[in-house]
Amino acid sequence: MQVLGISGSLRGGSHNTELVRAAGALIEAGDAEFDVYDGLKLVPPYDKDDDVPDAPAAVAHMRAAIVGADAVLFATPEYNSSIPGQLKNAIDWLSRPIATNVLRNKPVTVVGASTGMFGAVWAQAELRKVLAATGARVVGGELPVPHAHERFDKDGRLNDPELEQALADVVRSLVEAVRPVSEESATPAA
Ligand SMILES: Cc1cc2nc3c(=O)[nH]c(=O)nc-3n(C[C@H](O)[C@H](O)[C@H](O)COP(=O)(O)O)c2cc1C
Repeated sequence: MQVLGISGSLRGGSHNTELVRAAGALIEAGDAEFDVYDGLKLVPPYDKDDDVPDAPAAVAHMRAAIVGADAVLFATPEYNSSIPGQLKNAIDWLSRPIATNVLRNKPVTVVGASTGMFGAVWAQAELRKVLAATGARVVGGELPVPHAHERFDKDGRLNDPELEQALADVVRSLVEAVRPVSEESATPAA
């Protein structure tokens, strides 16, 4: 199983990228492979005239990364009570063609970190709405990480055990959403 992590922040010291990595570290060995997507900044502004079968390279690259993943974990910052423009722009590209877009039926989950006291809750709600509109299967509850500049230790782990457990629960929900129903409901023979 492949899980892709996407941080909605472009900056080098991003707390959301730290959060994506912390989530990846919580995937139990053997459950899934985890990669962090690093091409978000290269995605051009959405222009329907450019949205042709021979899509811009950065768009094709991102679409292929989503296709290659069984599930996607997004960590979003909050910019002015919503999601960063570049993240929304990328999802607009990913959402087309509408009937066959690469997010359709894909298990996705959303977490978020902000330096403020609410932990990007509005941005997470917005992102869940946008992802649901693409047809993605949004799983798990929200995970706000407030005061994010104080929340990671030197190894990149969340320094609050309750928060780390909540992140582990989100990751587990995502992995379980991928497992075939037959595997989940399999019961040992009596
Ligand atoms: C343009 C801009 C708008 C922001 N708006 C909000 C906001 O509405 N709510 C909030 O909690 N933090 C807001 N912040 C602070 C971000 O949460 C903080 O910079 C956070 O660390 C960004 O995520 P990152 O560390 O992953 O880059 C804003 C920051 C920027 C640059």
